Amino acid sequence: MQIFLDSTDTKVIADFAATGLIDGVTTNPTLIAKSGRPMLEVIAEICDLVPGPISAEVAATTADAMIAEGAKLAQIAPNVVIKLPLTRDGLIACGHFANEGVKTNVTLCFSPTQALLAAKAGATYVSPFIGRLDDYGFDGMDLIRDIRAIYDNYGYETEILAASVRNTAHVKEAAVVGADVVTIPPSVFGDMFKHPLTDKGLEQFLKDWASTGQSIL
Ligand code: E4P
Repeated sequence: MQIFLDSTDTKVIADFAATGLIDGVTTNPTLIAKSGRPMLEVIAEICDLVPGPISAEVAATTADAMIAEGAKLAQIAPNVVIKLPLTRDGLIACGHFANEGVKTNVTLCFSPTQALLAAKAGATYVSPFIGRLDDYGFDGMDLIRDIRAIYDNYGYETEILAASVRNTAHVKEAAVVGADVVTIPPSVFGDMFKHPLTDKGLEQFLKDWASTGQSIL
């Protein structure tokens, strides 16, 4: 499973990229606003930090304007992925970029039939939002499961990018049901390393090792 960071914080991205475990980065207009920096500058910096796919989202709502914005974003770096909303116009723009061989991430997906349309439009990635569905009393993981079944039934190559992830349980379930990618906030990535039994076990091992008086080096 590929792990993307859902962030525009370049310091944090650089720190986590140093683990060698980060395959890409997703951003959105809210995260750009949170960075307080010009979008083109932030995306360029992230593209330098992480060689994998970096999603940069258009802000336009009509297909023609999305295509113009996407073309500009694609010029930032070869690893930019154009992020488009799952609307009628967004899918028209997606089809355009698919024909041009430009990678896309169709975002704000909340239903299996929306995901089916994204695949038919040639999306590279589709982003179902787990946490926001859970917030409304639905089971976000059911959506991932349904999309996996649909894509497997028809051999669609669009990758399922589980988004709006709130905790490590979401990561585990998305991996179990077969999402191709998970995009996670930095805090959730940090939590993935942790287990109280790891800490307890290590403490005991270090104590016992010290009691031997030995040194490996
Ligand atoms: C994904 O591409 C989105 O940027 C993100 O996962 C949305 O997450 P949120 O629901 O926590 O805002």
